[in-house]
Amino acid sequence: MALAPTVQLRSGAHLPLLGLGTWPLDDTEAADTVALALETGYRLIDTAENYRNERGVGEGIRRSGVPREELFVTTKFNREHHGREGVRRAFETSAGLLGLEYIDLLLVHWPNPDQGRHVEAVEGIAALMEEGLVGAVGTSNYKPAHLQQVIDAGIVPDVNQIQLDPQRPRIVERAFHNEHGIVTQAWSPLGKGSGLLDEPAVVAIAEAHDRTPAQVVLRWHVQQGMVAIPKSSNPERLARNLDIFDFELSGAELAAIYLLDSSRADIVDSDEFGH
Ligand code: A2P
Repeated sequence: MALAPTVQLRSGAHLPLLGLGTWPLDDTEAADTVALALETGYRLIDTAENYRNERGVGEGIRRSGVPREELFVTTKFNREHHGREGVRRAFETSAGLLGLEYIDLLLVHWPNPDQGRHVEAVEGIAALMEEGLVGAVGTSNYKPAHLQQVIDAGIVPDVNQIQLDPQRPRIVERAFHNEHGIVTQAWSPLGKGSGLLDEPAVVAIAEAHDRTPAQVVLRWHVQQGMVAIPKSSNPERLARNLDIFDFELSGAELAAIYLLDSSRADIVDSDEFGH
């Protein structure tokens, strides 16, 4: 069974380049899917308070029998916890539901800049990290302007998880992350209902490598150092999505995939939306 390679974070932790997304699985589905994913070779599992499936994720982890230290478990908290004490309570609730003593990466789910506490929320995670309860500091859906405010306060997050796929390659955001040593993690890496997997360019590259279109798109992410967390509860797709570390896209193929960059593809605006 082949595991995904990892990228080392600023914190020193090793984050697998490919993991399992768990939205919108409920507790029962999450338990089954997480157990199967771990048996298949996944080691990174991504959940969130807002998905309401942390209990199921924890059950899947225990059912799999994979030792805790081999896993990389990620969760996120909502806007009402943005504050040092709030983040601590959010951590305790999530860790309790997951049945874990520490969380490998804790993320602020959305910046919610209207509250003006998106820096404080990150400070709350950094405090937990100093106590060894959290292994790395994460943000999600932070724009460069939000991240700059965090950096100005003296913290550089390890990871920023954003909506990213070949139709939304987020070049400006990635350049900012790279400049500061922040690892980019992609949510909905296969695109969101915009026909990405049926694009002729993707299909042709898939045929040339005898792979599926989804494998080509996921390879596009990881080959460029990004971390992808596709959700699948279909056993065959689950296995194939992880099986992308034994082929390589050429420079011309990467470039052909970049031509899919579409200004029409909508991106959730984190200055407007958040929970
Ligand atoms: P399924 O679970 O039936 O495989 P997200 O954007 O949250 O990561 O969700 C990914 C979506 O793409 C899910 O609806 C998932 O459905 C589907 N999906 C996952 N892997 C593949 C794949 N290899 N080929 C096609 N669709 C996929």
